[in-house]
Formats: sequence, structure tokens, C-alpha cells
Amino acid sequence: MENDSLLDEFNVKNSQTDVQEKWIMEDLTFVLFGATGDLAKRKLFPALYNLFLEGKIPAAFSVIGLGRREWSNEFFQSKVEESLRAYSRRDVQPAGLKEFLAHFQFCAFDATDKNSYRLLHELIENRETELGIPGNRLFYLSVAPQLVEVITSNLNKNGINRTKGWRRLVVEKPFGSDLKSAQQLNKKLSEAFNEVEIYRIDHYLGKPMVQNLESLVYANPALGSLLDLKQIANVQITASETVGVETRAAYYDQAGAIRDMVQNHLLQLVMMTALHLPEKITAREVGLKKIEVIESLRPISKEDAYRDVVRGQYESGVVLNTRVDGYQEEPGVEAGSNIDTYFAARLYIDNPLWSGIPFYIRTGKRLNKKSTRIVIEFKNKKTEIDVLPDEGTIPNLLILNINPNEGISLRLNIKDPSSNRFEPACINFTTDSDDQSEAYELLLFDAMLGNATFFAHWEEVELSWKWIQPLLEAFEADMLPLHPYTAGSTGPEAADQLLQSDQFNWW
Ligand code: BG6
Repeated sequence: MENDSLLDEFNVKNSQTDVQEKWIMEDLTFVLFGATGDLAKRKLFPALYNLFLEGKIPAAFSVIGLGRREWSNEFFQSKVEESLRAYSRRDVQPAGLKEFLAHFQFCAFDATDKNSYRLLHELIENRETELGIPGNRLFYLSVAPQLVEVITSNLNKNGINRTKGWRRLVVEKPFGSDLKSAQQLNKKLSEAFNEVEIYRIDHYLGKPMVQNLESLVYANPALGSLLDLKQIANVQITASETVGVETRAAYYDQAGAIRDMVQNHLLQLVMMTALHLPEKITAREVGLKKIEVIESLRPISKEDAYRDVVRGQYESGVVLNTRVDGYQEEPGVEAGSNIDTYFAARLYIDNPLWSGIPFYIRTGKRLNKKSTRIVIEFKNKKTEIDVLPDEGTIPNLLILNINPNEGISLRLNIKDPSSNRFEPACINFTTDSDDQSEAYELLLFDAMLGNATFFAHWEEVELSWKWIQPLLEAFEADMLPLHPYTAGSTGPEAADQLLQSDQFNWW
């Protein structure tokens, strides 16, 4: 019943937005590698629980959690419950909790041990028989990057990926650490799964505002006319964070902001913005259009990188009223590390639509505030009228706030009757984030349905790495200075100068 109503709702939603695809929620086994880890605790269990509350998980549903520890099913279920109480956006409801937890079973697992795969296979099959699940298997890899290849090839060797139903592989980032390693990893994965079965997670694609880009113009024809590209001066994409490297130095001190945030999240935001803003396109077209955008991204050569790219690293300072250490003092960071914790760049998309309109992207840790947003700055008609402060230089802005508060603002100039001068005023629409599905809810739901629209496809990932590769080489060859910036600031001055050289400022 629950599934029927879910499907109806889903199909209605699709028909309303003109999307042709129909996805069906089938009974399935969710095999979770890394079930004792942080992501499972903070995001995946709460996401599954909220989907359960909304009637969006299949009727016959088996979750098999895998981890190195020797946990019993009961202990695992108590851990799942703990995580719901700590991290679910909705309060835990006594009704249905037992039923929800009964879906979960645990299997102690060593990714390099053949016997573990045999036991896993048995458990999957036993549960499939017990619950009447027709061999549909979703393998979710929330594990250290070096284990992704090992697990996938062992699933293949041990026949666990050969099933009468469908099979899907969901992989977390990072997907490789440069072009070559990403290509090698993909080659290995494709020995066990077809491209259409591989769901590469980029959780920025699960953020509701990013997904809303798709229907924004369609639902608001007025926006469509507003977004006449001839009127756009530039597009700015910011992902600023207040957190530092935290306990992740072992990974981050190798990756830096360029691999951690730019190659995936920021380039995905560039693609989503560029493909959706001028027009409404269907879910089916998303993948193809994204590839077109990233293919048209003007390459930045290693030699020229210094003109368009700024990298930085935080020094000690005060963030949100708390004194914090600099990157070099963080636990686990190598002495003298020249890893970037800040990245900004100027990009051009050389296609007829966006030609000549700069995209500025930036991201950094230990900045003054947490904010992910896309700002579209409109051309400012220089005016002779002296009613505008600062000689009429305040441009209109369309601001799409992605995180922490989702919303849209339009900044206009409105005449203040008391002074008879134009002053900037914002029309704001903000959603209540407690009512919003979280990125992982939307992505898990899609992966279970088999809708890959908001996942990163191989061609996009490969083209992103191709674009990034010369920059990595410029970093390694020390061809780009690493600008220090104070924790709690807006980043290095060089990033401001990058825009000032084009007569713009960051918003
Ligand atoms: C992750 C990065 O992918 O995204 C983290 O590894 C970063 O370093 C995080 O903090 C930011 O995500 P969000 O959703 O908080 O903007």
C-alpha cells in the first residue's frame, strides 16, 4: 500500500514537471560497507529513517551493515537507534521504530578476507529468501578510498554481484586523486558493474536547492526572462566553511581544497548552474548537458594558472568568537605542508550561451561563515541619475542560497522615500530547513529507485579531472604561491584582486 501511494505521488510529480522517466521502488537488499563509520551514523541511518517515516522504503527491505567489529544484530540496531536520536532531523517516533530497526542486520567483515565475502553472500541470500526479495542488491561503499577497488573486485570474484535482480554500486567521493588514478579506479569498477549501475555520490547534487535549479526557470517564467544571459555580468559560486581540517588530516593533507571540494562539488555546481539557468531541461537531458558544459570549460594551462587561480592556507585566528590554530598546527598535518585550504578561480564556459561571462568559484576552510551560494550579478546600467548612492554602482543580484539556509533572494534598488535615494533592498524567500529533505535522503531514495539524474557520471568525473590536472601539476611544481589568510577572514587578498582586475567584487 505504502509503496503504491509513494509511486502515485512520484509519478504525479514527474508528470507535473514533464519528466518522462518512471522509476519503480522495488524490494531490495542494501549492503552497507562502512556501517560502523561516521557517514553511516551521521547521514545514512537518519536518511533511511526519514525515508521510512515518509513511506519511501520498499516493503521488503534488508539492510546488511558491514564493519570490522564483532557486533551482534541487537547491538548494531541499538547503534542505529542512537544515531537516529542524535542526528535525525525528525524526532524518533516510538511507533514504527522496532519495525524500522528490524530491517538491519550486521556482518563482521574484513575486506581482504575471502571468508568474509562467503559469509556475506550467504547472509544476503538467506535474507532474500526469508523476506522474499527478488535479488535486487544495492552495494553502498562508505569506506576508505583504497578499499573501493578491493571490495568491488571481490564482489565480482565471489559472484555476489551476479544476481537475478538488479545490482547497483554506490560510491562515495573521492573518486581517484588525479586523472590517472580516477581512470584506473573506473576501469576496475567497470569490470564488475556497468556504467549505468554505478552511482557516484556527490552530496552537493542532493542538496534541494541544487535539485530545484532544474525546475526554477520552468516554474517561474518571469525568472526566465530575467535571466537573459546578455544581462549577466558574472556568476559567483562560493562554498565557505568555518570548520578546519578537524580529525581528517590524514586524508586532507594529501587532498587539499582542490581535490576535496573543487574537482567534485564546485565543478558540479558550475555545471548545474550553467545548464539549468537559461532554460528548463528534462532529467533525461541532464547528464548530456552537463558533459557539454564541462567540455566547454576553457582549459587553464599549468603555465597560465597563476593568472586565474588563487590558493591559500589558513593561519591562526578567531572563527565565530573562538580562537583557532592555523593549518600548520593542526594535529596530523605534516610540518611545512603546502596543501591548499582555500581555492578560488576564474572560469569561462566557451559555448554560445555563456561566452564571455566569467564564473568565479571559491571555497575555503576556517573562513568567517558557513555559506554555500550561487550569486548571479546583473550588468549595471551606469546612470547619470544622482539618486543612487555611490553613483549607481549597485548591481542587481539573484542569490541562490544552498546552505545552511536554502532560499532565493533578489536584490533590487528601491527608492527610500525619506531620502529620495535608491537603496538596495532584498526580496527573500527562505525555506525552513527542518522541513527539508536532506541531501542523503534524496540521493538514497533515487539510488534505490534507480534514478541516476543527480549522480556524477563517469564522463563528467573524467572531464573534471582533465580540467583540474594542469592545476594539480602547477601546484606540485610550485608555480602558484600559497597565500596565507587569517582564520575567520574571507580568504586571501589575492582572491579579491582576482575579481578587482575585472572590476568586480565577491558578493
Ligand atoms: C565534503 C568535504 O565533501 O563536503 C568536507 O570532504 C566538507 O571537507 C564538506 O566540509 C562540506 O559539505 P557541506 O554539505 O557541509 O557544505
